[in-house]
Parts: sequence; C-alpha cells; structure tokens
Amino acid sequence: MQADQAPVPTSARFTRPRVIAFLVAIFLLLILAVAISATERRERAELLQADADRILDDPRLAPKALAKGRKVFLANCASCHGADGRGSTATGTPDLTDQDFLYGTGLVSEIEQIVLHGIRSGDDRGWNLALMPAYGQQIPYPREKLPPLSPKEIDQLASYVGAMNGQAGEDPADVLAGHNLFEGKGGCWDCHGRDAQGDPAIGAPSLANGKWLRGDGSRRDISRIIREGLHSVSPAFRGRLDPLSARTVAVYVAYLHARKETK
Ligand code: HEC
Ligand code: HEC
Repeated sequence: MQADQAPVPTSARFTRPRVIAFLVAIFLLLILAVAISATERRERAELLQADADRILDDPRLAPKALAKGRKVFLANCASCHGADGRGSTATGTPDLTDQDFLYGTGLVSEIEQIVLHGIRSGDDRGWNLALMPAYGQQIPYPREKLPPLSPKEIDQLASYVGAMNGQAGEDPADVLAGHNLFEGKGGCWDCHGRDAQGDPAIGAPSLANGKWLRGDGSRRDISRIIREGLHSVSPAFRGRLDPLSARTVAVYVAYLHARKETK
C-alpha cells in the first residue's frame, strides 16, 4: 500500500529533454534581456546626444521622450505645477501650458536649465537676476537703491496696473498718478519694461496680459505684492534627477507649452 503513494523518483521528473528545454528557455530569456537593455542604452544615448531643441520634431525620439518625461513630471513637478501643468495662483506657481514665459521663450534647452538649476533656488547657476521688491518696507530692495512707497502711492500703482488689465471704475487721477510712479519714483519700468510687458531675460512678468502669478489680479492682491514683494522659487533638480530624466521632463514641459499654440 505504501509503495503506491511513494513519490515519483527524481530521475523521472528531470528527464534529459526537459533539462535541455529548460536551459534553452533560460538562454533565450538572457538574450532577450541583453537586447532590451542594449536598446534602452541606445535610446538613452540618442536622447542625451540629440540637440535638445530638436527632439520634439523627431518622430522617433519624441514619443519616447514624452512618455518618460510625463512620468518624471508627475513624480517631481505636479505637486507644485499641478498634474495638468496649469499651476496655481493660490501658491504662485505658473501655468506651464501657456505661451507666457517668465524666462526665455519655451525652448527645451531653456526649460532643462530651469529644471537642473532652478529659479532663486540657491544653486549658483539658477535664475536669480531680479526679485520683486517689497515697497512697503523701509529698504524695499537689498540689491539696488529704491525708495519705499506710501500706502497711497501703492494704491495708485494698483489702480494703474488694474486699468491696464481692463479693470473698470478706476479713478483716472489715481491711474495717472500710478503711471507716473511706474515710470518715475517706483522704478517699475526698469524691470517690467516701459509698456509693462515684462522682461523674460530677468524673469519679470508682464503686468498687462491679465495673467497673474499669485492672486486674482484684484486691487487687494496687486497692492499686497507691491507692498510685500515676491520671492518665488522653483527648486534645482541637479543631483536629484539623472540627466535623462531632466532632459525628458523638459521636453514634456516644452510640449505642454507648445500644444496650446496649435489649438
Ligand atoms: C516647490 C514647488 C515647485 C516644484 C516642485 C517645481 N516648481 Fe517649477 N516653479 C515653481 C515656481 C513658484 C515657479 C515660478 C518662479 C517665479 O515666479 O519666478 C516655477 C517656475 C518654473 C518654470 C518657469 C515658467 C515660466 O513661465 O517661464 C519652469 C519651466 C518650471 N518651473 C519647471 C518645473 C519642472 C519641470 C519641475 C519638475 C522637475 C518643477 N518646475 C518643479 C515651483 C515649483
Ligand atoms: C528689480 C526688479 C523689479 C522692480 C523694480 C519691480 N518689479 Fe515687480 N516683479 C519683479 C519680479 C522678478 C517679479 C516676479 C517675482 C516672483 O515671481 O517671485 C515681479 C512681480 C510683480 C507683480 C506680480 C505679477 C503677477 O503676475 O502676479 C506685480 C503686480 C509687480 N511686480 C508690480 C510691480 C510694480 C508696480 C513695481 C514698481 C512699484 C515693480 N513691480 C517693480 C521685478 C521687479
């Protein structure tokens, strides 16, 4: 009775043909793994060696860069810029899907530089050419001599900025006084430009396009920024993201920016 239940002898399970089939399967899997990793290495090298600003026009590289870049974006950037890249005026994080650039013109190489070195991030290769002064303080700007402004003057400037953005009901006398402060005592033109269109060489935003970094463009929010200043930071990812991740996320952001243009 006991003999019936005895296990099949090992020699019967590991017959020679089975062992050979097993070894062949392992060998094929190894070859497949080597082939996949060689393809990955080649694509990686191609993406890193390509002219960054041409990747989006390359029908072979673009889809690969975008797929990887999107993952990197969701893991590293979405927490501030939003999963859809549209940012938030509550936290002062800009929309990355529009044609309004704080820095540069939306090229992949320019965005890659922002990803690696950041904005006011403490990285000495990051953007840090200008801050928005705090005109309500005795010394509004540590880097340059600028006079503090009175609450009335700040109000007049807010009227001028509001009127430029189509805000109805501003007192014309206040708007004119604000204009004079903008061009004169306040020195606003020096960073934001005489026509308030902004300056993408130093990251000073347009004050005339109805788009706001922080707040809703109401008189209260504009006055607060003039009074308290702004010091927005995009972190430096050098050392936190490998070069391929930094490049592909820049490609993805350039794609988000450009997508609207064609709509
Ligand atoms: C901690 C929040 C935060 C994170 C995380 C962050 N950013 Fe930013 N980013 C900002 C803020 C705030 C600004 C605006 C800086 C300013 O006003 O000058 C900004 C600005 C930018 C700009 C310039 C936008 C323009 O209009 O010119 C780009 C491009 C950018 N970020 C890309 C990224 C990418 C890509 C990532 C992820 C790898 C990232 N950021 C992660 C907060 C963040
Ligand atoms: C030294 C350069 C500089 C000067 C002078 C300056 N600004 Fe700015 N301003 C900036 C920068 C840079 C930002 C964006 C700061 C940031 O994102 O952290 C900004 C942002 C702003 C914003 C917020 C815009 C938005 O999209 O939310 C307003 C409003 C503004 N400035 C108004 C003024 C007014 C009015 C004056 C003159 C009284 C003035 N600025 C003078 C550099 C300057």
